Amino acid sequence: MRPPRIAPGVASERRLDKGRARLAERKKDLKPEQLTAIREALGARSIVLIGLMGAGKTAVGRRLAARLDLPFTDADTEIEAAAGQTVSEIFAEYGEPYFRKGESRVIARLLLEGGPQVLATGGGAYMDEATRANIKGHGISIWLRAELPVLLHRVRRRDNRPLLASGDPDKVMRDLMKKRYPIYAEADITVESRDVPHELIVADTTEALIRWLEREAKPAGGKARGKGE
Ligand code: S3P
Repeated sequence: MRPPRIAPGVASERRLDKGRARLAERKKDLKPEQLTAIREALGARSIVLIGLMGAGKTAVGRRLAARLDLPFTDADTEIEAAAGQTVSEIFAEYGEPYFRKGESRVIARLLLEGGPQVLATGGGAYMDEATRANIKGHGISIWLRAELPVLLHRVRRRDNRPLLASGDPDKVMRDLMKKRYPIYAEADITVESRDVPHELIVADTTEALIRWLEREAKPAGGKARGKGE
C-alpha cells in the first residue's frame, strides 16, 4: 500500500504566514514620497549589486528594481548580448582574461549610459580596480553577503558557471570567499542574503539604501555630499 501523503505541518504553515505578514507590513512602509526621495537622491547613479555567485544579485535586483520603479540590467546578460555567446562559451573559447576585459568595458558603458537603474554584476566584476572606481563614481554599491551553505545550495541548481565547472564547488567557493570578501567589503552598503524569500532581502536592501542616502544627504556635522553624477 502506498504511504499517505505527508501534509505540510501546521507549524511550517504558521511560520510562512508570519513571514508573509511581516513582509506585507514592511512593504507598506515604503510610501510614494519615499520612492520619489530615493529617485531624487539617486540622480543618474546606478544601484550596483555585487557579491559571489549564488548571492541572489539577479533575483533580488529584479525585484528591487520593480519596487523602486527603476529599470533592471544584468551585466552578464549584456555581455552575452554584446558577444553573441554565453559566458561559458566565452570562457571556453577565449579564456577568463578575455571575458574580464569585456566585462569591464560593458559595465563601464552601462554605468555611463544606463543610470538610474539597478545593475546586477557578475561575481568577479568588482574585483577589477577600474570597475570598482567606475562603480564608485557612477553608482552606489550593495554587497549581498551570504554564507557558504546558502551559496552552495543555490549554485548547485544550475550548471552555467564556468568557474564551478571544473573542481569541487565547495573548495572553489571557499577560495573565492577568502579572496573576494575583503574587497567586497569596500561596498557602500552590505546586506545579509539569507535563505529566506527574496522579497525579504529586497525589503532589507531598500531599508539599508534609504538609510545610506539619508546619511549621505546629511552627514553628521558636515556638508551634504554631491550626487557624483
Ligand atoms: C563569475 C560569476 C558569474 C559570471 C562568470 C564569472 C565570477 O556571474 O560573471 O561566470 O567570477 O564569480 P554570477 O555571479 O551572476 O553567477
